[in-house]
Amino acid sequence: MKLLWTLILLGLTSAAPTKKIIQNTIGSIPGLYVVNVTIGTPNQQFLVQLDTYNNGLFVQDKSCGYCNHTFDSSKSSTYKFLNQNTSLGGNNYIIGQDIINLGLSPNLLPIPNTIIEQDAMPLYYADGLLGLGLQHDGGFGFIGNNLPILVNAYNQGVVDQPIYTIYLRKNIQNGDAGVITYGGVDSINCGSVIAYQPLAKYDDYVIAFSGISYGSYANSSTYTTLVDSTSVSIGGPPSVIANMAKVVGAIPDEGYLFYQVDCDKKIPSFTFTIGGKQYTVDSNQQLGPKNATSNMCPFAKSYCNIYDPGNKRLGFALPKGQ
Ligand SMILES: *[C@@H]1O[C@H](CO)[C@@H](O)[C@H](O)[C@H]1NC(C)=O
Ligand SMILES: *[C@@H]1O[C@H](CO)[C@@H](O)[C@H](O)[C@H]1NC(C)=O
Ligand SMILES: *[C@@H]1O[C@H](CO)[C@@H](O)[C@H](O)[C@H]1NC(C)=O
Ligand SMILES: *[C@@H]1O[C@H](CO)[C@@H](O)[C@H](O)[C@H]1NC(C)=O
Ligand SMILES: *[C@@H]1O[C@H](CO)[C@@H](O)[C@H](O)[C@H]1NC(C)=O
Repeated sequence: MKLLWTLILLGLTSAAPTKKIIQNTIGSIPGLYVVNVTIGTPNQQFLVQLDTYNNGLFVQDKSCGYCNHTFDSSKSSTYKFLNQNTSLGGNNYIIGQDIINLGLSPNLLPIPNTIIEQDAMPLYYADGLLGLGLQHDGGFGFIGNNLPILVNAYNQGVVDQPIYTIYLRKNIQNGDAGVITYGGVDSINCGSVIAYQPLAKYDDYVIAFSGISYGSYANSSTYTTLVDSTSVSIGGPPSVIANMAKVVGAIPDEGYLFYQVDCDKKIPSFTFTIGGKQYTVDSNQQLGPKNATSNMCPFAKSYCNIYDPGNKRLGFALPKGQ
């Protein structure tokens, strides 16, 4: 009797609608994080730059004669042409709609009716760009004002939550930089969520910091900052960044916009306060992928970031084992 009940319960559980949480590798090519996606029926696979600031899927189009790898919409039975325009610096771009899959087979998250910008020139170091940022005017390309890809997935019942999590490894191993989880919190690589912080603005992942300290430098004023796990640099108010750079002897570019630091440099840990909680980034987690054209490392990140556009908030968790 007991066995029977167990079987019935199991049967009920597996009959429940299963929505997907999909995990995939985040790859690293110099200066960029990349992920695989597919577009169309049958699938055409692309390695695209992962971006948490811009919004929308951009891909090099077949009409770009000198691009290495392009999307051929004529080979997709599910493709819909929406619009064509020539205003991107005189270059053509096409707006289309198709089914896409986030991920690499067999871990695919299919999202029907996704708007795609197909570009007629090689704009990227990769085949295209997967923008998982929020809806905003401006930014990159012409489709940034459409629904964010995972919100579109949620509206179509593909995922239970329009959330994604980014976990970056301390050390990149053979181009394997971390894991992206589409549709939920990454409970495999990340511990429990320490806190969620509401967004300070609704069109970007911008939150308020209330203090940082870095070696001999500390600043307790409150300021807002853009959290962009896919950027290979740490951003902040110029005076704060300049002071942090001074602590580690980082070298600015001509415009003092970017700093880079010697990959072998010994650097202090970095502590910042968000919503009354302190987060520490160890020195060994601060250096990002080596720059392709110089022997320098940009600053990088370490916490698991949980992007939750539905609730207009961003969560932080420590990677497991820390
Ligand atoms: C992308 O897919 C190719 C196989 O088609 C695989 O070799 C590569 O490791 C994948 N990269 C990432 C970042 O998943
Ligand atoms: C790499 O370093 C060069 C020289 O310092 C700099 O001009 C360029 O912007 C850097 N690229 C990245 C992706 O950081
Ligand atoms: C095509 O690939 C080659 C080899 O990786 C690279 O050197 C070249 O810049 C690429 N061309 C374009 C237009 O992306
Ligand atoms: C082309 O793009 C511009 C800028 O986004 C827009 O103002 C214009 O309406 C577009 N033209 C067509 C024919 O869609
Ligand atoms: C402290 O941070 C505030 C706000 O970002 C900034 O205006 C100020 O210049 C900083 N002070 C120092 C000494 O860096």
